[in-house]
Amino acid sequence: MEEETTAALMSLEEDSTVPCLANGSPGPETLQGLTELLRTATARTLGDQTDIISLLDYGPERGDAEFREQLAAFLSRHYGDTVTSDNLMVTCGAMLGLRLILTTLCDLSCPVFVEDPTFWGALSMLRHDLHVNVIPAPCDDDGLDTEALDRLLTAHRPKPDEERTKKPFWAMVYTIPVFNNPTGRCHSAARCRRLVELARQHDVLVVAEDVYNLLHFGEEDGPHPPPRLLTYDHPWDPEHRGHVLSNCTFSKLLAPGLRLGWVEGPDSILRHLHGSELLKVGGSLNHYTSRLISTALKLGLIDQHLKRVRMVYKRRMEAVCRVLRNNLPRGATFFEPQGGLFVWVVFPPGCDTEKMLKWTSDRHRLTFLPGISTSPGGRHGHCTRVSISFYPEHVLVDLVSKLCRAATEFFSLHASV
Ligand SMILES: Cc1ncc(COP(=O)(O)O)c(C=O)c1O
Repeated sequence: MEEETTAALMSLEEDSTVPCLANGSPGPETLQGLTELLRTATARTLGDQTDIISLLDYGPERGDAEFREQLAAFLSRHYGDTVTSDNLMVTCGAMLGLRLILTTLCDLSCPVFVEDPTFWGALSMLRHDLHVNVIPAPCDDDGLDTEALDRLLTAHRPKPDEERTKKPFWAMVYTIPVFNNPTGRCHSAARCRRLVELARQHDVLVVAEDVYNLLHFGEEDGPHPPPRLLTYDHPWDPEHRGHVLSNCTFSKLLAPGLRLGWVEGPDSILRHLHGSELLKVGGSLNHYTSRLISTALKLGLIDQHLKRVRMVYKRRMEAVCRVLRNNLPRGATFFEPQGGLFVWVVFPPGCDTEKMLKWTSDRHRLTFLPGISTSPGGRHGHCTRVSISFYPEHVLVDLVSKLCRAATEFFSLHASV
């Protein structure tokens, strides 16, 4: 079911003549705005003083040292927390980061506990490329339901007489704790603390995707985003052994085509990743681009861009939520996030958003992400995710108004939902 929905959705997204509220990439306007930044960074990176050989050779396994320094300073500023370059490693984006983490640190036969709902792309890769045993863990308004997760971990824990994996961890938990995709919610501090406690107690790896944290809607000099899960795994705790990784990307902060990301974590875990044969042979996972972005970071260009897009997304989010508040059919609700790119709309139970998608696409030439494709447990069929990243505000407002009209019409014709 989820497989079919995803395939159908991909083909809808490919038909660029039909507007699609599922698209979570930065839109053409945002990407166009990066032209000058990249021109300047490229000119500087390829300047007369540059050692072209070191720029174009394989890079160091962990990634270029200067890039990691610049990135650490940038993250420290924007997280409001100290990040050190020794705890950072370059990747070619979060999806490939996740794949490297899973294949290096766990056996593919290991269980992977995934929030229900979750990022449909990761779910699809885990199931259809890697064929791992995905186990849904329920969520509520405070994020991942850690007591339910505790029961699931206990049930799947290897028996004492079972053969131990030779990999560092017997299971992985995949989570999006801050401005979650698709719900836009953040795990409460209590849930974050409990999740780290469980990771230690059951000795499992937790991969937190911190993809949207820096897209928070606080004032420029105001509060920082909620702390990432990694900060709850304090190195000074007597029980600390290192169970959490923060898997991140420039795809949403800058552009997905750069294919640049990073993993932050303790050396006890990172050394398995950059010590892998893949990296020993191939070096840095994205050397040239990381050097380019290092220059842009040094010149302050990424800070300026981030400031701009945060304001743009904040305005779009407010506009979209205004439309939803005034126009959603009775019984439908939504949560207004304080950051990130998605609004999760919940229609009354029994509403089938896959059927609604077909209706909306045929009659109104508009598509969206039906909740079922975000659910490892085949749930959330009555929900939908609306993305604010792709279209400019005036277009987005028109499309979301259209979605509300289409839903109202669909409801009146399918009165039983
Ligand atoms: C939670 C999450 N992880 C990863 C990605 C993709 O990241 P990348 O483009 O770096 O592979 C997305 C994109 O939607 C996402 O929402």
